[in-house]
Amino acid sequence: MTFSQMQSFIAEIAVDNGLFREEAFESRIEAIDRIDFLVMERIDELLLQENQQEVLLSLKHRAENLKQELEAINTKMFQRLQARIRTGEVRGERLRELIREYTGFDTAGSTNAGTEYDHADIFINGLFPLQTMPEQTKELEPEMVYYQKTPARIVFELAEKAAFTKEDIFCDIGAGLGQVAILVHLLSGVPCRGIEFEPAFCDYADHCAVQLHLPGVIFINTDARAADYSEGTVFFMFTPFKGEILQQVLDALRKESLQRKIRIITYGPCTAQVSLQSWLQPVMPGYSHVYSPAVFSSTW
Ligand SMILES: C[S@@+](CC[C@H](N)C(=O)[O-])C[C@H]1O[C@@H](n2cnc3c(N)ncnc32)[C@H](O)[C@@H]1O
Repeated sequence: MTFSQMQSFIAEIAVDNGLFREEAFESRIEAIDRIDFLVMERIDELLLQENQQEVLLSLKHRAENLKQELEAINTKMFQRLQARIRTGEVRGERLRELIREYTGFDTAGSTNAGTEYDHADIFINGLFPLQTMPEQTKELEPEMVYYQKTPARIVFELAEKAAFTKEDIFCDIGAGLGQVAILVHLLSGVPCRGIEFEPAFCDYADHCAVQLHLPGVIFINTDARAADYSEGTVFFMFTPFKGEILQQVLDALRKESLQRKIRIITYGPCTAQVSLQSWLQPVMPGYSHVYSPAVFSSTW
């Protein structure tokens, strides 16, 4: 973009009243992205090369102010939505409607396999009261997998595929920052548990659940090998570990399956090892993609 193109772009955004309406969330995040990448980064490059420092800095200042104004609308909007979650108003179908309204994403529609994030993730992230991710404090063993969040659209898909009943209790094994357990609870209303090895992540997740007034969501800071699985019926794993650790946890779940029917939903490379367990059968035959949720059910 040339300097005059950047000037017109900023001027156009500043008078686009539609962008300042709360519901225009998608267009607003696109505008914020463009301000960042097309204007601010370009000005930083030009500042290193050109003499017109004053005019460049003045346009950068205008762009920064505009970006802050747009971000402030999102912040207010998310604070209001968090308050509505706290009162219990935003749950199930109401939450699905809001996601559709704000991001254009139909949670009941078909989803794309993969690990990339989209506007639905930015929206769901905003519903969480803590925005800064804590640092990892404990070293992981070689077979353990570092934190990576399941994309929101995959959580919507797994909540559909799980077809929860009133008797179900969902458990995310390797729960990370707790988004899957909290989101599944908001969508389905079933009690949710999260088991997480890293204490800082577990504290973060717990704090979010407490701040959103969700007593039905509980996080437990323990190694999945030592966890108590006696109350779960639907277990989710976004490949939290591999090899021997995964096998030990699957063996513990197999023991639980002797007491009650359980389901395991997997996402990522762990699906291959889970699909080899003789006591499990795929609920829908085969799985289409390694990064698509696969559902297994115990056979007895
Ligand atoms: C790929 S992340 C998935 C996070 C979360 N389930 C999600 O989908 O957003 C894997 C998580 O498993 C945790 N983890 C790894 N080994 C673990 C173990 N032995 N017990 C419990 N959690 C473990 C990691 O700390 C990390 O947060």
